[in-house]
Amino acid sequence: MDWWNDAVFYQIYPRSFQDSDGDGVGDLAGIESRLDYLAGLGVDALWISPFFKSPMKDFGYDVSDYVSVDPLFGDMEDFKRLLAAAHRRGLKVVVDLVLNHTSDEHPWFREAREARDSPKHDWYIWKPFPERGPRRPPNNWISLFELRSAWYENPATPEWYLRTFTRNQPEVNWRNPELRRAMYGVLEAWLDLGVDGFRLDVATGYFKDELFRSNPFKARLVPDLLQEHLYDRNRPEVHGVFRDFRRIADSYGGRVLIAEPHGQDRSLAASCHGEAGDELHMAFNFEFLTRPWGAASFRDSARRWYGALPPGAWPNFTLSNHDQPRHVHRYRKGADTEARARVAAALLLTLRGTPFLYYGEEIGMGCRRLPRKALRDPLGIRTWPFSGFGRDPERTPMQWDASEGAGFTTGTPWLPVNPDARVRNVAAQEGDPGSLLSFYKRLLTLRRNIPALRSGDLEFLGEDPDVLAFRRSPSRTAVGDGAERAGGTDPAPARADPEVLVILNFAGGRRAFPLPEGGRVLAGTRRPEGSILGAGDAGLEAYEVLVLERTGT
Ligand code: NOJ
Repeated sequence: MDWWNDAVFYQIYPRSFQDSDGDGVGDLAGIESRLDYLAGLGVDALWISPFFKSPMKDFGYDVSDYVSVDPLFGDMEDFKRLLAAAHRRGLKVVVDLVLNHTSDEHPWFREAREARDSPKHDWYIWKPFPERGPRRPPNNWISLFELRSAWYENPATPEWYLRTFTRNQPEVNWRNPELRRAMYGVLEAWLDLGVDGFRLDVATGYFKDELFRSNPFKARLVPDLLQEHLYDRNRPEVHGVFRDFRRIADSYGGRVLIAEPHGQDRSLAASCHGEAGDELHMAFNFEFLTRPWGAASFRDSARRWYGALPPGAWPNFTLSNHDQPRHVHRYRKGADTEARARVAAALLLTLRGTPFLYYGEEIGMGCRRLPRKALRDPLGIRTWPFSGFGRDPERTPMQWDASEGAGFTTGTPWLPVNPDARVRNVAAQEGDPGSLLSFYKRLLTLRRNIPALRSGDLEFLGEDPDVLAFRRSPSRTAVGDGAERAGGTDPAPARADPEVLVILNFAGGRRAFPLPEGGRVLAGTRRPEGSILGAGDAGLEAYEVLVLERTGT
């Protein structure tokens, strides 16, 4: 059992979490000042989105110096202080490495683009202009954030370079051994500093087709832009790099590697673990980011994910992140929105697998449409006035209190604070036992204290379209076996560890539910903690959450 198997991760988008110097942008000292809050919330690990030197064309996902801190966020001393302070509180820290591309202001690219014989030229991906005839891009690959060809002209050499996000994010050439060594050095430098692991941005995208073949047509606009991305990403050569990453991480011990797969394909995510279990520890399962609301929807998705994982791989779940509308927004339904947020929280925090929370979800932060002039995300600006593509709405400042800057900043925030911060904020919820924040804390405490919830087996109970129910029992299987288990053949563990029943009513009305066995309420939205329910019809209220310790009667 490794620490990340039963840890709860909390993603911090550093621009938006806490500003300490009044410039309107969050920073590392700000995060440090909120560590007590995070420890008190009950999470175990922080994933901090990029804070490295960057021209901020993609808000930090365009890195111009991998082992540095952008002055906007502080300096390396601030990072070291933050890391030590987190460790003192038992919090792990995972940093976000963006190794598929650099910024076009990275010294490597500046040198590479000067001349074809510059030593760094082959560290990027180039195609020469044709000697004669019309100058058409070498293939149909597209840039996701610019909605045009992925090939951008570099007259100096004269060639195109490849970038599949913004034009300012040239893709590096992982086939070049020197580039690889330089990237491995980046991992080692952060591991030497003591970080607990990495989230690897678009990790499956590192390699492109050697023959640069055009992608076939696919009749799906979002998010594929009418292409099946066969050749511009997700090539098999990446597994060699994953094995190297793993060797490096293992040589330090206790460090975690988490892939962001490029795309939503669960088998792609599953493949990141490696057939022999010698690649990455986890790969994000993004299905919950787009699932429609409903018990059957989430049950089917979780079941498919458990089934897709190779033996030895460990599942994970995430409802929101910095690239997708927040789940509270996606699942909003007038006066039912808050009740739905509780069902979602209970689902995320009781399933078998590592949960990833996104800052602010614990207080039910939502999204709102921003005026054109407030937009900052290049994708949002490009796709305006269509909403749903731009990512600013899920990146608004953390809502700490009811003050003008929401306790996030004393200056002008880089993105407008959501006006609901006046009522929806940490200060308002902290002392209120009935708040969403208190509900998250209760679930996090349960998860921490009950082995069955942290690492136990999971068995779905029934196929009700509205009620998602499952039993968690102390593990009879090796931790790391991602499969849903109906039981095992090993001897049963000592009875001291309770079994837990989780029952979630996704419907906005009452539903019958035949409770297979009696239980004591550990957490719930309707019934008081400690109350005892006998076997039989539990008669669930709308959106009721019930987490029961099995008493057996
Ligand atoms: C995925 C990141 O999550 C996203 O925010 C970023 O824009 C792209 N990768 C490019 O780095």
